[in-house]
Amino acid sequence: MMNFMQFHAPTKIVQSPGLLASGESEFSTYAGRRAIIISDQVMASLNVTETLARTLAESGVKVGIVYTEVPQDSDLHVVSRVAELGRNCGADMLVAVGGGSVIDTAKAANILLKHGGELKEYQGYQLLTEPLFPLVAIPTTIGTGSEVTPIAVIADHEEMRKLSFVERFITPELALLDPEITYTLPSKMAAATAMDALTHAIESYTCLEHNPMSDMYAVNAIQTILAEVISGTRTDFDPEARAKLQLASTMAGIAFANSMVGGVHSLAHALGGVAKVPHGVANSIVLVAMLRYNLEEIEARLANLARAASLSGSGDDGDASRTMLERLSLIQESLHEMTGLPTRLKEVGVRKEQFPEIVDRAMEDGSVIYNPKELTNDALINILEQIY
Ligand SMILES: [Fe+2]
Repeated sequence: MMNFMQFHAPTKIVQSPGLLASGESEFSTYAGRRAIIISDQVMASLNVTETLARTLAESGVKVGIVYTEVPQDSDLHVVSRVAELGRNCGADMLVAVGGGSVIDTAKAANILLKHGGELKEYQGYQLLTEPLFPLVAIPTTIGTGSEVTPIAVIADHEEMRKLSFVERFITPELALLDPEITYTLPSKMAAATAMDALTHAIESYTCLEHNPMSDMYAVNAIQTILAEVISGTRTDFDPEARAKLQLASTMAGIAFANSMVGGVHSLAHALGGVAKVPHGVANSIVLVAMLRYNLEEIEARLANLARAASLSGSGDDGDASRTMLERLSLIQESLHEMTGLPTRLKEVGVRKEQFPEIVDRAMEDGSVIYNPKELTNDALINILEQIY
């Protein structure tokens, strides 16, 4: 029986090398507005924010303030600060240049900039009824997908939790993909974020809410990432492969924004909240173990992916799904050797005493209910033991 489905991909996406320095025509729609630029210290030190401010000015957009203090794991305080600065300078648009943490900060700050109050009041799902200020997102990693999703994840460090905000009106209006901005990404970070994108696509394709339209984006992203992840992330990466990974990350974002994610993200969010494991690293460590746990429910779909990626011929679903899992393990090992991407929890400082708390947090995470096989505390402990 056909269930309810909807598909929403409202972001204009433009990809071109050098876009940051020469993208006046993309910004000219916003001429006359006053922008707050939101970024981090790395982008400031690489003069990326300076280039962006110049391009905005050349397009007729006034730059009210440039905020470059977003940390790796942005929290409620940072969001409040950004909204306050934006309000003080009269900002009526936001431009985020950075990774997931920066873009999510801009999305959440946009809510407060428009409506005021405390961010916690807005925690939940589709509470807003009118558009916010225009947000332009310029991703600097190759994994977040946040440039096209209606989701922001913000840490509440006091409660050791990650809070989710799902609002169609926080989706960026414009995503500028400039492959050249990603060239300075350290290879380990490139690998971790590419694994985040791969996880978005695989969880989108195998979770309970997948639909034919999200599948289309997920499959293309998976084909691309499997083919390009090594040549696009190693130290002497191939720029073509890097650009393909960047676009695949955006496609994976559209995929999961219109289906959901699942157990890998539940655990990754919990590992981030409790043990500060970077998001992409956590996904990479958890991915194969969670897929093996889910296997009885997703064998046919994993087999489809193996065939779509030309990993497997006409073998049965059992063989093809095993081939897919083997390929994922192989990628994980290759990235570990090539870039030092961790493959075990103990490598990233997680302690076994933290397992019960990690499991509790994971079971509270919004993604749990979309996992194709029911998750239990015991099952999650078991998975954590396997990847310790
Ligand atoms: Fe993710």
